[in-house]
Parts: sequence; structure tokens; C-alpha cells
Amino acid sequence: MKILFVTPECAPWVKTGGLGEVSAALPKALGELGHDVKVLMPAYRSLRDLSAQGEVLADIPAQGVWPAARVVQAAPSVQQNAGFSLWLLDCPPLYDLAGGPYQDERGQDHATNAVRFGWLSQVAARLGSDLSPVPGWQADIVHCNDWTTGLAPAYLSRLPGRAASVMTIHNLAFQGLFPASEAAKLDLPDEWLSVSGLEYWSQLSFMKGGLQFADAITTVSPTYAREIQEEPLGFGLQGVLRDHVDHLHGILNGIDTGVWNPDVDTFIPHRYDASTVQAGKRANKAALQVRCHLNLDPQAMLFGVVSRLTAQKGSDLIMHAVPEIIAQGGQLVMLGAGDTDLESALRLMAQQHPGRVHVSIGFDETLAHLIEAGADCFLMPSRFEPCGLNQLYSLVYGTPPIVHATGGLADSVVDEVTGFVFKNPTAEALIAALRRAFGRYRDPAAWDRLIQVGMAQSLDWSGSAVRYESVYRELRLRGI
Ligand code: ADP
Ligand code: GLC
Repeated sequence: MKILFVTPECAPWVKTGGLGEVSAALPKALGELGHDVKVLMPAYRSLRDLSAQGEVLADIPAQGVWPAARVVQAAPSVQQNAGFSLWLLDCPPLYDLAGGPYQDERGQDHATNAVRFGWLSQVAARLGSDLSPVPGWQADIVHCNDWTTGLAPAYLSRLPGRAASVMTIHNLAFQGLFPASEAAKLDLPDEWLSVSGLEYWSQLSFMKGGLQFADAITTVSPTYAREIQEEPLGFGLQGVLRDHVDHLHGILNGIDTGVWNPDVDTFIPHRYDASTVQAGKRANKAALQVRCHLNLDPQAMLFGVVSRLTAQKGSDLIMHAVPEIIAQGGQLVMLGAGDTDLESALRLMAQQHPGRVHVSIGFDETLAHLIEAGADCFLMPSRFEPCGLNQLYSLVYGTPPIVHATGGLADSVVDEVTGFVFKNPTAEALIAALRRAFGRYRDPAAWDRLIQVGMAQSLDWSGSAVRYESVYRELRLRGI
């Protein structure tokens, strides 16, 4: 099949979180199944050189509300082993901006976001129709990801010879809401501006557009697929999801075992596998303690966190658990960025516990890998988590995770078998789980069993890629 995977981020080129990783690893796995996969992403400023060195596949003239743009295929040399072709939507007035994919340098949303992602969606839709701007290539499936691509299924529904559309929800908390007045810039027919279309409490919702018009909806874990059909995790769209439940699928994310695998990881100082995990983790733990100015104490149980610092991730709950970690002789390393209030509170907490607690604010790929390899135990008390990737990494790195039973965390960690799972997202419940972990850690044989069962899980993308493939096939069989 010809699959167009449209996304606002794709690692290693652009990554702000899990979506960036999934947008590289799933297309790669689909490519390995024999499909012809193109990943379409905007040519942000950080990709200017990549775009300039690529091959122009299409020159799209300005028309109506839409600006001129080009579809550029990145040079093969930058895509070694990617398993798919990277297509960039080159339109400097919209994408060659200072800042990141969604926000400017001051952390404000780009003022033109509706048009920026409306245009990405429009071009994706055309690529899946008889109006494809790339000669000789027309997608059978347009696979959309989160609100930034939500208008693609809607636009596609009006085009001749159209592909089937799949909308994947990575996080329903982000919906892409814009004033209704933006509709004039987006070439949306009036009838879509109603409650049965894109309208959401007098605003335009890109996410709702995707859900209403997609031929299939998927989300990144079976539990989250159930949770979003109810309050509060439906974030107001639970009714829309229930209306489309006959084509809503929960498919757990996998991990790219070429990148996240302690046996081949080039970011960590000491590589290991299940047979050498004890020595490997001991050496990486020492390296992590040195790197983070913690007491060089092999006995101290070291907890790791890599996370956006937000209420969703339960970063505040971790702060409440620090006294317990200290009381039991443990240590904590946290890496993250996010809410400025939380960042300041965490920095202060680290200052209060020198040698025991280290907080690193920022985005640091190398440290993220070292935490997975060097920590004894990983904390992920997210209030909600559509899938979550770090608990999966933790399993394969022999770093049993402590998680709240929600979304993909509930689907991937088994209490007392591969980690510790607690029911309510409260500090008390997290602390009770921590106590159980400390107890288990003091029994080395029992702790090793936890590690071994976690490391034996197969968490690569092969199984989940086949599930996506079945969703595509079913749509094709239905003649869409
Ligand atoms: P989300 O996408 O909701 O942030 P996920 O668990 O799906 O959560 O994915 C987060 C990804 O981003 C992981 O690969 C994690 O290692 C990475 N990550 C998050 N914060 C940082 C950070 N501060 N530095 C480096 N990597 C980070
Ligand atoms: C979102 C979710 C996260 C998920 C990721 C990739 O960012 O918050 O849980 O793992 O998307 O699907």
C-alpha cells in the first residue's frame, strides 16, 4: 500500500515528545512490512538545509486562500535506515519561523497556527486524491496524527478519487481550538461549522474535524481508547468518540529497538543485555551519579524521571514523594522541562537535598538514555497517559517502573511482575508504591526477577505495525 503518514514532528529531525518518536518508528515498521511509506512534515526553520538539499517533487502554485509551496524529498543520505521517505512541505512564510514547531521563542503559539497546520492537512489530503501534486504518486491511506493534521480527513472527504483516512489520537488534551473567524482562511464549507462538523462551543476544533471525518480512528493504547469515551479524559469529545466507536481502535505503541536498547545504545557508557544487566547497570549507575553530582553510593536506590513537567505527568506528586525517598536512603534524578512554576519548585527541592536529588531542566537526549540505563527504578505517576514511552524503555533497560494505572501505563506494566502499579493518582498512593519498591529492592533475587521479566518483554513495533496494517486493509476491503 502507499501510505502517507502526516505529522508535525518526526525524530531525529524534530522531536518534542513521544509523537516524534512514533512518527519515525511506526513508518519504519510499516516500511519493513513492504509498504511504500512517505512521512510528510513541515519544513521548519531547523530543517531549512535539509529542504534546500532535497529533491523537489512538486511545485504547488498559490490558489485561493492557500500560499505557494513545494513538496521536497529529503536526500537519501540523511535518511539512512529510516525505512520511509521523508517529505517536507516547504512554505517559508508559514514554516520558516523562529522557535519550535508549535510556539515561538517566547513560548507563545505561533499566530498563524491554524493556517500552518490547515495547509499541512490540505496538502496531505491532495496527496491522497486524484489531485495529487506529486506526479505518479497518490496515497491509498492518509494516516493523520493529532490535531495538527485533523483537517486532512475533512478536506479529503471532498476530493475525487480519495484515499482512506486514519486519525490517530496521541493526546486528546490538545485539540487545536481556534476562533470561528479563522474558518475564512481555511477554505472550510459553511456546513462544517456546525456541531455535527468542526464546531466546538463556538470555536473550531481541528481534532474534532479529524474524528468526525476519518474513516478509522486509532489511539495509542486499548485502555486510553476506553477512557476517552467518558469524562474527564474525553475532554468534551467523549460523545463524538462514542458515536464513532465502531471504528475506534486502541493499539499500543512500540519502541524503536535500534535506538532504545541497552545492548546497542551509543548514548550510554556501558552497554549490557539481560545476562550482563547487573554489572551493566552498576557501571551506568555510577556514571549517572557522577554526571548528576550525587553521592557515589552503589547501595542507594536511585529513582529516575524523564518527563515533560506538567500536571498530566504528575510531576507535583513526585515532589511530595521526595521525603520518603530521602527517608529510605534513596536518590532521585529528574530530567524535564515544562511549567515554569514546577521547574522552579523542583530546582529548589534539589538544592535542599544536595548529593541526593538532582534536577536537570531542559531537553537532553544523552541524559535521558543514561537515566534509563543508570537508575534502579523509574517513576511515571502520570494522571493520564495515552501510551507513554518511558515506561516501555524502562522495562527493556531493566529499570522497573512505578506507574499510575492509566492508559498505556496500565496496559504495559504488570504490578509486582514487571514494576509497581498504583490505582489513584495521589501522593499517598505513589508513596505506598515506593515503599513496596524499596521492600523488593532489598531482596536482590526478587528484584532481579522483576528486571528479567521486564527485559524479556518484546516491545518492538512489529506486532503493533501489523495491527495498523489490518486497520488499513479493512478500510480498503470496505472500498474506501
Ligand atoms: P509525551 O509525548 O506525552 O511527552 P512519551 O512518554 O510518549 O510522553 O514520550 C516522551 C519522549 O520524550 C520520550 O522519548 C522521552 O525520553 C522524551 N523526553 C521527554 N522529556 C525529555 C527531556 N527533558 N529530555 C530528553 N528527552 C525527553
Ligand atoms: C502523546 C502522549 C503519550 C504517547 C505519545 C506517543 O504525547 O502524551 O502518552 O506515548 O503521544 O503516542
